[in-house]
Amino acid sequence: MQDILQRLEDMRAGARMGGGQARIDAQHGKGKLTARERLDLLLDEGSFEEWDMFVEHDCTDFGMDENRVPGDGVVTGHGLVNGRRVFVFSQDFTVFGGSLSAAHARKICKVMDQAMKIGVPIIGLNDSGGARIQEGVASLAGYADVFQRNVLASGVVPQISMIMGPCAGGAVYSPAMTDFIFMVQDSSYMFVTGPEVVKTVTNETVTAEELGGASTHTSKSGVADLAFENDVEAILQLRRFLGFLPLNNKEQPPHRPTDDPIDRPDLSLDTLVPPNPNKPYDIKELIHKISDEGDFFELQPNNAANIVVGFARIEGHPVGIVANQPMVLAGCLDIASSIKAGRFVRFCDAFNIPIVTLVDVPGFLPGTAQEYGGIIKHGAKLLYAYAEATVPKVTVITRKAYGGAYDVMASKHLRGDVNYAWPSAEIAVMGPKGAVEIIFRGDRDDPEKLAEKEAEYRSKFANPFVAGKHGFIDDVIMPHNTRRRVARALSMLRTKDLKNPWKKHGNIPL
Ligand code: HXC
Repeated sequence: MQDILQRLEDMRAGARMGGGQARIDAQHGKGKLTARERLDLLLDEGSFEEWDMFVEHDCTDFGMDENRVPGDGVVTGHGLVNGRRVFVFSQDFTVFGGSLSAAHARKICKVMDQAMKIGVPIIGLNDSGGARIQEGVASLAGYADVFQRNVLASGVVPQISMIMGPCAGGAVYSPAMTDFIFMVQDSSYMFVTGPEVVKTVTNETVTAEELGGASTHTSKSGVADLAFENDVEAILQLRRFLGFLPLNNKEQPPHRPTDDPIDRPDLSLDTLVPPNPNKPYDIKELIHKISDEGDFFELQPNNAANIVVGFARIEGHPVGIVANQPMVLAGCLDIASSIKAGRFVRFCDAFNIPIVTLVDVPGFLPGTAQEYGGIIKHGAKLLYAYAEATVPKVTVITRKAYGGAYDVMASKHLRGDVNYAWPSAEIAVMGPKGAVEIIFRGDRDDPEKLAEKEAEYRSKFANPFVAGKHGFIDDVIMPHNTRRRVARALSMLRTKDLKNPWKKHGNIPL
């Protein structure tokens, strides 16, 4: 018996060494942790239950029958993050470059299937050279098996991809179908085709970093939600992030008790909106001031910064925050911001996370770039997402809510549950200047008359009371009481029960 136990220990020790010390050193030399070190950081101490440690590939071509490593380049299993279960896979770059073989894919599929069955998130730590070249189509089949599960798991359990090394070719499509993609700066990249292929096909010269590095995907493409400085920061932030999410679509998001009183007034909010309606202010100040302990987990801060999205807690309960940002493009909705916020709203709705919408929007961004780019279809994504959402929706209009963008931003008309406005709100078809220029086009050469009409329009329509008369606004609230009023609304809505009509699925304007 003692021999068998020793043999097991030896086999385990062998598997833990992955591709061997030299490759582990090379991994460290690149500033990267190994697959196992990453899991040690991610999971609560001693909670990791590893599966399939002794799985090996079944390829015999290209001398592969002589080259087998237990675990086959991916460490899989389950464990706890702050006491809550998650399933994980962590690709081991020291074994065949973390490349995906049929056996490697089967390991990933096994944890995905189990995660769906018991209803807990799936976290993938990606660090892989893509399809195992020696296996050919078998590895492509393996990818497709993972893709299929990504789709089935979508909206059932949260799926999070952490890109911690190369991710190229069709391999990027599994992360693309997960709910959130996080990257590590300078050591990770994602692209469908690499720089060499780009050079051959389009004659563009571009580095891997420029083509698909973390800064590209968090600022230009919007593919990734956040970039972190290194592996350690990335994993610690991932732990924090998971604290906002329910384990599955049937659970409520986790409550975290707070000492931050909900009735804490904040007098500085009474002067947040500047007297000049064309002057910007930072909407994040409002977000921080209404959130428990000022804690806000922002997503995509450098992509479509004219809209701010992320998670916070109010009275200990997670909420998704969507807010127009007057500091960027005056807070207009455009293609990028509609896509960014639309997807976020749908995630919140799928996972029972109430949505708090802060509105200061002068409209959709005009221009040929937007029209040719399809703002009609892309703007409709956000409209669709809000209209479809059945989770509690609480809206606060701080200043402008003009035109179609007013309708879109969780208005009463899209089943907003509680819609508040600050006294500074201007809810109208458009701004006073634009309105007067159209209605009194004939008086174009009479600036005095135009100014007089503009003042008249402003006093008549640029306020929250016309909407209030119609019941489109439930109350006009004091800015300094916003946290208390939003918290009360959310508390009242905790038992909200609203269902959309049965359908196979809707047809969101993709
Ligand atoms: C098998 C691979 C591999 C792969 C890397 N390795 N990628 N083995 N299949 N796809 C092995 C290397 O042979 C090497 O083995 C070890 O991993 C480390 O690789 P290096 O090249 O030394 O590392 P580095 O210089 O850091 O370069 C990493 C890399 C490069 C950029 C990822 O290895 C690379 O370009 N690999 C090929 C990428 C690729 O074309 N993959 C297929 C994409 S198409 P030793 O034994 O020397 O340590 C695809 C289709 C998916 O994925 C479609 C899904 C629908």
